[in-house]
Amino acid sequence: MSDIVTVVAPVNIAVIKYWGKRDEDLILPLNDSVSGTLDTSIMCAKTSVCARPEFEEDEIWLNGKKESFSSPRVKNCLKEIKARAAAEKCVSDEFLQWKVHVCSENNFPTAAGLASSAAGYACLVTALAKLYKVKSNVSSIARLGSGSACRSVYGGFVRWHAGTSADGSDSIATQIVESTHWPEMRALILVVGDTKKKTSSTIGMKISAQTSELLQHRIKHCVPQRTEEIIEAIKSKDFPKFAEITMKDSNQCHAVCLDSYPPFFYMTEVSHMIIELIHKYNELYGTKVAYTFDAGPNACLYLLESEVPKVISLIKHAFPSSNPDSFITGLKSDEEVL
Ligand code: DP6
Repeated sequence: MSDIVTVVAPVNIAVIKYWGKRDEDLILPLNDSVSGTLDTSIMCAKTSVCARPEFEEDEIWLNGKKESFSSPRVKNCLKEIKARAAAEKCVSDEFLQWKVHVCSENNFPTAAGLASSAAGYACLVTALAKLYKVKSNVSSIARLGSGSACRSVYGGFVRWHAGTSADGSDSIATQIVESTHWPEMRALILVVGDTKKKTSSTIGMKISAQTSELLQHRIKHCVPQRTEEIIEAIKSKDFPKFAEITMKDSNQCHAVCLDSYPPFFYMTEVSHMIIELIHKYNELYGTKVAYTFDAGPNACLYLLESEVPKVISLIKHAFPSSNPDSFITGLKSDEEVL
């Protein structure tokens, strides 16, 4: 009988977006991406795993609901972790035969759709790695669950290199800087809608890769330069530059969705109001806040700590009906990195 292993993993929010795959099965991206990994105190996924000889089937519970274990992505992650464990001779062959039970939940509203798959798969893979005593880095296995999950394995700011090799061996995440490098950095999450998205990011990016000319332009002519520039801005703590690139990249990613055929949309009227509000704020005070939107209507604002009280009161004033809800968090430190 194995002990129950429980692990917590962070959400990451991209400032250079991953949008489009060069390999659907191995989950290899068309472009590099960059993200901040958020502190786990406010938003995280928590996963417990356990293997026992008496379990008849692999089973999974997500947020209290039993789900099918037949998802190819979940199965693939388990298969790869077991293959690593076998190669590293970490546990007995008998232990590898036992079925596993997985229980996973998020401590933030899943309906918010905020990078929950990134935290969820980073968490699942790390918990399984601990269960099977795998020592090597598991970021590339988390990628097989959800591309963006490979970035949640590190704290601070992280780059996922698209790589060029067909087997994905060079498509890896690396840390750019630790969270201590820019300790004043905060992320303010604004939950503006809780409806489930009509087009998942997996489907959306597939349509874009097949039909959007803007996506082709983006990956060739915009992302490479932006990636280098934002890394430089992060390293030199140049907030205005960091913010400008973040906002432009989010806007371009959503423009790609509109340029896809058939088009699809994630932002709502409230999302657009937030964009306008932040630009007005930045015009008034200098570039102090950056917004970015993933495949949903909810905003992530990156800003420095000193700006937080003013921005929160502005949001409350602009949306008096208390919509959107907000969470404030810093970047995840590296002491407890997975
Ligand atoms: C807009 O990682 O969820 O959040 O690899 O198909 O699971 P799959 O997609 P996923 O896509 C994330 C897209 C994004 C941008 C980003 O996080 O870089």
